[in-house]
Amino acid sequence: MQISPSVDFPPQDIKSELDCTDTTQKAITEETKAVFKAVLDHSAMEKILKVANQEPAVPDTFPHYTNFGATEYVYEFSKRWTSGFFSGSVWALCERASKRELPVSFENLVKIARKWQSGMEKEQYNTETHDIGFMIMPSFQRDLDLTGSKPCGDVIIRAAESLLTRWNEAIGCLRSWNTTSTKIYEFTNKDTDFLVIIDNMMNLDLLYSATLLSGDPKYAAIATKHAETTLKYHIRPDNSTYHLIVYDPVTGKRKVGLTHQGYDHGSTWSRGQAWAIYGFATVYKYTKDPKFLDAAKRLTEYFMSRVENGAVYWDFDAPRPCVWDTSAVTIACSGMLLLCQLQGNLEYLPQVTLLMKTCIDGALTNEDGVTILDHATVNNYEHANHRIADHGLVYADYYFLEVGNRLIDLGLA
Ligand code: GLY
Repeated sequence: MQISPSVDFPPQDIKSELDCTDTTQKAITEETKAVFKAVLDHSAMEKILKVANQEPAVPDTFPHYTNFGATEYVYEFSKRWTSGFFSGSVWALCERASKRELPVSFENLVKIARKWQSGMEKEQYNTETHDIGFMIMPSFQRDLDLTGSKPCGDVIIRAAESLLTRWNEAIGCLRSWNTTSTKIYEFTNKDTDFLVIIDNMMNLDLLYSATLLSGDPKYAAIATKHAETTLKYHIRPDNSTYHLIVYDPVTGKRKVGLTHQGYDHGSTWSRGQAWAIYGFATVYKYTKDPKFLDAAKRLTEYFMSRVENGAVYWDFDAPRPCVWDTSAVTIACSGMLLLCQLQGNLEYLPQVTLLMKTCIDGALTNEDGVTILDHATVNNYEHANHRIADHGLVYADYYFLEVGNRLIDLGLA
């Protein structure tokens, strides 16, 4: 495999000093303070711990989404891309406990987080999916950062090696799925169709971390090349995004842009747009290349232009009335707060306030809920093999907790 030239390293530190000019200070309204206080309410932690202290009915399975009413989780095996988010949520609470006093101690939270995380360790060898970043990083990176655990660093480097097996030099991308199908199309031949989804931007963090840990620039170089290719082919001229691009693995040429979980091939699936915001902000964090900051900002502007009275529907172009996707909200908000941290300002505070207020007012579960939020949507594509809409979802909660932690880091809550 040929490796692209090294990128600029090490990454830019997250700015600790905020540029609190009059304009940014004015963004901190009474409403903002009330919304952010609610985001950090301990009831969110109680919901996570309620599930964390229950044994799954089938051993070695992990919470994914809820049934109607958000009172019971559906569990999946560790090879599912969502499996790392639950231990990641407990680790997000550990991170919070390292910054402020919580009703449960840091040490106890670490014990619970490690119990859930242990079932994920084998996924470091998984070469069948691009989602290994989602599976590994929410837990193992936090364990490393918060406790200095050396074995976690080894897991991250090993997982990055697994991800590199999916690299195609002709295209300049990592392969997302080997094959895929819906009721109206299928791709079953890896040799003729190379599938890349916008979500893949979120797995690049793993590669940058592996370069920092190992000193080997090859992981970061591939991550940056993947981001450059995605910038070229996944973002439409109006800054909306395609979900799935199919490439020719031999010539490297783009064949077609499709949807797999959105309303239509030409529509904008709101979670895909959110992954793009967060993913490009992350690549900017590590590379300092302004074209990635510019992309993240353009994607954010598009996202916000499609928000309706604070609500984010599952696809911005789906006919109304339709269901929300609170996971798109929390992912986008965490990405916007990351942009604030990287720029050292509070540029997106009004947007984050608006969006999180809608979650707080309209999507918190009641006391029987096992998720923090309701009204997320895994996949509502009418031709999907498995449609699941309007429910609790483990990664809507994970990014909700991450938003809270970023608010603490920014001194806002
Ligand atoms: N990464 C798949 C999804 O967002 O549903």
